[in-house]
Amino acid sequence: MEDTTLLCLLFLISLLSCPANQASLTVSPSSSQLFKGQSVSLSCEEDDSSAGWTLRRNTSRDTETQCGDDWGNPAGSSCKIGYMVQWDGGVYWCESREGATSNSINITVNGGPVILQSPVLPVTEGEDLTLHCKTETSSNLPADFYKDGSFIRTEPAGHMTIHHVSRSDEGLYKCYISSVGESPPSWVSVTGEEVTFDFRSSFIQIFT
Ligand SMILES: *[C@@H]1O[C@H](CO)[C@@H](O)[C@H](O)[C@H]1NC(C)=O
Repeated sequence: MEDTTLLCLLFLISLLSCPANQASLTVSPSSSQLFKGQSVSLSCEEDDSSAGWTLRRNTSRDTETQCGDDWGNPAGSSCKIGYMVQWDGGVYWCESREGATSNSINITVNGGPVILQSPVLPVTEGEDLTLHCKTETSSNLPADFYKDGSFIRTEPAGHMTIHHVSRSDEGLYKCYISSVGESPPSWVSVTGEEVTFDFRSSFIQIFT
Protein backbone atom coordinates (compact mmCIF):
# COMPACT_ATOMS: atom_id res chain seq x y z
CA MET A 1 0.00 0.00 0.00
CA GLU A 2 2.76 2.44 0.94
CA ASP A 3 4.74 1.46 -2.16
CA THR A 4 1.74 2.23 -4.31
CA THR A 5 1.34 5.60 -2.66
CA LEU A 6 4.99 6.38 -3.20
CA LEU A 7 4.82 5.38 -6.87
CA CYS A 8 1.70 7.43 -7.29
CA LEU A 9 3.43 10.38 -5.68
CA LEU A 10 6.47 10.09 -7.94
CA PHE A 11 4.28 9.75 -10.99
CA LEU A 12 2.25 12.81 -10.10
CA ILE A 13 5.35 14.85 -9.32
CA SER A 14 6.80 13.96 -12.71
CA LEU A 15 3.59 15.07 -14.37
CA LEU A 16 3.38 18.26 -12.37
CA SER A 17 6.96 19.32 -12.91
CA CYS A 18 6.70 18.44 -16.62
CA PRO A 19 9.80 20.36 -17.71
CA ALA A 20 11.17 21.31 -21.14
CA ASN A 21 9.56 21.24 -24.55
CA GLN A 22 7.01 23.92 -24.18
CA ALA A 23 6.06 26.60 -26.62
CA SER A 24 3.52 29.33 -26.70
CA LEU A 25 1.97 30.78 -29.80
CA THR A 26 1.67 34.53 -30.20
CA VAL A 27 0.12 36.46 -33.06
CA SER A 28 0.76 39.95 -34.38
CA PRO A 29 -1.38 41.99 -34.75
CA SER A 30 -2.85 40.57 -31.56
CA SER A 31 -6.45 40.12 -32.63
CA SER A 32 -8.68 37.13 -33.08
CA GLN A 33 -10.41 38.83 -36.03
CA LEU A 34 -8.71 40.29 -39.08
CA PHE A 35 -9.82 41.98 -42.26
CA LYS A 36 -9.35 40.22 -45.55
CA GLY A 37 -6.03 41.38 -47.02
CA GLN A 38 -4.29 41.99 -43.67
CA SER A 39 -0.93 40.38 -43.07
CA VAL A 40 -0.22 38.46 -39.91
CA SER A 41 2.81 37.02 -38.19
CA LEU A 42 2.55 33.97 -35.93
CA SER A 43 5.44 32.99 -33.64
CA CYS A 44 6.20 29.85 -31.69
CA GLU A 45 8.04 31.14 -28.64
CA GLU A 46 9.85 28.01 -27.58
CA ASP A 47 12.28 27.13 -24.82
CA ASP A 48 14.02 24.50 -26.94
CA SER A 49 14.40 25.20 -30.64
CA SER A 50 15.96 21.76 -31.22
CA ALA A 51 12.51 20.27 -30.56
CA GLY A 52 11.61 21.34 -34.11
CA TRP A 53 8.48 23.41 -33.53
CA THR A 54 6.31 24.08 -36.53
CA LEU A 55 3.15 26.09 -36.94
CA ARG A 56 0.07 24.11 -37.90
CA ARG A 57 -3.53 24.94 -38.55
CA ASN A 58 -7.01 23.51 -39.07
CA THR A 59 -9.32 25.40 -41.36
CA SER A 60 -12.64 24.52 -42.93
CA ARG A 61 -10.69 23.39 -46.01
CA ASP A 62 -7.88 21.29 -44.57
CA THR A 63 -6.59 19.95 -41.28
CA GLU A 64 -3.15 19.84 -39.64
CA THR A 65 -1.31 21.47 -42.51
CA GLN A 66 1.99 23.15 -41.79
CA CYS A 67 3.28 26.67 -42.49
CA GLY A 68 5.03 26.54 -45.85
CA ASP A 69 2.89 23.69 -47.20
CA ASP A 70 0.59 25.77 -49.35
CA TRP A 71 0.19 28.75 -47.05
CA GLY A 72 2.49 31.06 -45.12
CA ASN A 73 6.19 31.85 -45.31
CA PRO A 74 8.27 30.24 -42.57
CA ALA A 75 11.06 32.40 -41.12
CA GLY A 76 12.82 30.79 -38.17
CA SER A 77 10.23 30.12 -35.50
CA SER A 78 7.74 32.51 -37.13
CA CYS A 79 5.35 32.21 -39.99
CA LYS A 80 4.12 35.16 -41.99
CA ILE A 81 0.91 35.18 -43.99
CA GLY A 82 1.02 38.18 -46.30
CA TYR A 83 -2.61 38.41 -47.38
CA MET A 84 -5.25 36.79 -45.21
CA VAL A 85 -8.36 35.51 -46.94
CA GLN A 86 -11.49 34.01 -45.41
CA TRP A 87 -10.31 30.41 -45.67
CA ASP A 88 -7.20 31.29 -43.64
CA GLY A 89 -9.60 31.53 -40.70
CA GLY A 90 -9.27 28.61 -38.30
CA VAL A 91 -7.29 27.32 -35.34
CA TYR A 92 -3.49 27.70 -35.24
CA TRP A 93 -1.00 26.01 -32.90
CA CYS A 94 2.68 25.05 -32.64
CA GLU A 95 3.69 21.41 -32.63
CA SER A 96 7.06 19.83 -31.89
CA ARG A 97 8.50 16.84 -33.77
CA GLU A 98 7.49 14.65 -30.80
CA GLY A 99 3.92 15.90 -30.99
CA ALA A 100 3.91 18.33 -28.02
CA THR A 101 1.53 21.21 -28.65
CA SER A 102 1.29 24.84 -27.58
CA ASN A 103 -1.82 26.84 -26.78
CA SER A 104 -4.00 27.26 -29.82
CA ILE A 105 -5.41 30.49 -31.26
CA ASN A 106 -8.61 30.97 -33.22
CA ILE A 107 -8.50 33.46 -36.04
CA THR A 108 -11.51 34.70 -38.00
CA VAL A 109 -11.02 36.57 -41.26
CA ASN A 110 -13.90 38.85 -42.22
CA GLY A 111 -14.55 39.76 -45.81
CA GLY A 112 -17.09 42.26 -44.42
CA PRO A 113 -16.54 45.81 -43.24
CA VAL A 114 -16.43 45.43 -39.41
CA ILE A 115 -14.21 43.45 -37.04
CA LEU A 116 -14.19 43.03 -33.28
CA GLN A 117 -10.69 43.09 -31.85
CA SER A 118 -10.65 40.85 -28.79
CA PRO A 119 -7.76 39.19 -26.89
CA VAL A 120 -6.39 36.07 -28.56
CA LEU A 121 -5.33 34.57 -25.23
CA PRO A 122 -7.60 33.92 -22.23
CA VAL A 123 -8.02 36.89 -19.92
CA THR A 124 -7.17 36.26 -16.26
CA GLU A 125 -9.89 36.92 -13.67
CA GLY A 126 -9.47 40.38 -12.17
CA GLU A 127 -7.82 41.88 -15.25
CA ASP A 128 -9.46 44.43 -17.56
CA LEU A 129 -10.84 43.36 -20.92
CA THR A 130 -10.94 45.84 -23.80
CA LEU A 131 -12.81 45.18 -27.02
CA HIS A 132 -12.39 47.37 -30.11
CA CYS A 133 -14.94 47.62 -32.88
CA LYS A 134 -13.31 48.73 -36.14
CA THR A 135 -13.84 49.33 -39.80
CA GLU A 136 -10.87 49.16 -42.16
CA THR A 137 -10.49 52.93 -42.10
CA SER A 138 -11.82 53.91 -38.69
CA SER A 139 -11.44 52.69 -35.13
CA ASN A 140 -13.41 55.31 -33.22
CA LEU A 141 -16.95 55.21 -34.57
CA PRO A 142 -19.81 54.68 -32.11
CA ALA A 143 -20.43 50.95 -31.75
CA ASP A 144 -23.00 48.67 -30.13
CA PHE A 145 -21.56 45.72 -28.20
CA TYR A 146 -23.31 42.39 -27.70
CA LYS A 147 -22.56 39.36 -25.52
CA ASP A 148 -24.18 35.98 -26.17
CA GLY A 149 -26.68 37.70 -28.45
CA SER A 150 -27.80 40.34 -25.92
CA PHE A 151 -27.13 44.04 -26.29
CA ILE A 152 -24.73 45.37 -23.62
CA ARG A 153 -24.29 49.04 -24.48
CA THR A 154 -23.32 51.62 -27.09
CA GLU A 155 -19.83 53.04 -26.80
CA PRO A 156 -19.30 56.44 -28.45
CA ALA A 157 -15.65 55.81 -29.43
CA GLY A 158 -15.87 52.17 -30.58
CA HIS A 159 -14.17 50.49 -27.64
CA MET A 160 -15.55 48.92 -24.51
CA THR A 161 -13.60 48.05 -21.36
CA ILE A 162 -14.87 45.62 -18.75
CA HIS A 163 -12.97 46.15 -15.51
CA HIS A 164 -11.96 43.26 -13.23
CA VAL A 165 -13.39 40.48 -15.36
CA SER A 166 -14.91 37.42 -13.72
CA ARG A 167 -15.91 34.04 -15.13
CA SER A 168 -19.36 35.38 -15.96
CA ASP A 169 -17.79 37.76 -18.51
CA GLU A 170 -16.71 34.78 -20.58
CA GLY A 171 -18.76 34.45 -23.75
CA LEU A 172 -19.36 35.21 -27.39
CA TYR A 173 -18.95 38.91 -28.21
CA LYS A 174 -19.76 40.87 -31.33
CA CYS A 175 -20.25 44.49 -32.27
CA TYR A 176 -22.23 46.58 -34.69
CA ILE A 177 -21.47 49.94 -36.29
CA SER A 178 -24.57 51.74 -37.48
CA SER A 179 -24.90 51.98 -41.29
CA VAL A 180 -21.65 50.01 -41.75
CA GLY A 181 -22.35 46.53 -40.41
CA GLU A 182 -21.80 43.83 -37.84
CA SER A 183 -18.61 41.97 -36.86
CA PRO A 184 -18.37 38.18 -36.70
CA PRO A 185 -18.65 36.82 -33.14
CA SER A 186 -15.54 35.90 -31.12
CA TRP A 187 -15.26 33.81 -28.00
CA VAL A 188 -13.50 35.48 -25.05
CA SER A 189 -12.31 33.10 -22.32
CA VAL A 190 -11.61 34.01 -18.73
CA THR A 191 -9.30 31.84 -16.61
CA GLY A 192 -8.78 31.71 -12.87
CA GLU A 193 -5.54 32.87 -11.31
CA GLU A 194 -2.67 30.53 -10.43
CA VAL A 195 -4.68 27.32 -10.85
CA THR A 196 -1.57 25.16 -11.32
CA PHE A 197 0.14 26.64 -8.29
CA ASP A 198 -2.87 26.11 -6.03
CA PHE A 199 -3.21 22.57 -7.23
CA ARG A 200 0.44 21.81 -6.54
CA SER A 201 0.50 23.30 -3.07
CA SER A 202 -2.71 21.59 -2.00
CA PHE A 203 -1.38 18.35 -3.43
CA ILE A 204 1.84 18.70 -1.45
CA GLN A 205 -0.15 19.49 1.70
CA ILE A 206 -2.10 16.26 1.35
CA PHE A 207 1.05 14.20 1.26
CA THR A 208 3.06 15.93 3.99
C1 LIG B 1 -7.41 19.64 -35.95
O1 LIG B 1 -8.22 18.73 -36.66
C2 LIG B 1 -8.03 17.38 -36.29
C3 LIG B 1 -8.86 16.51 -37.23
O2 LIG B 1 -10.18 16.95 -37.28
C4 LIG B 1 -8.44 17.19 -34.83
O3 LIG B 1 -8.24 15.87 -34.42
C5 LIG B 1 -7.58 18.13 -33.96
O4 LIG B 1 -8.01 18.05 -32.62
C6 LIG B 1 -7.69 19.58 -34.46
N1 LIG B 1 -6.76 20.39 -33.69
C7 LIG B 1 -7.11 21.49 -33.03
C8 LIG B 1 -6.05 22.20 -32.28
O5 LIG B 1 -8.25 21.93 -33.06
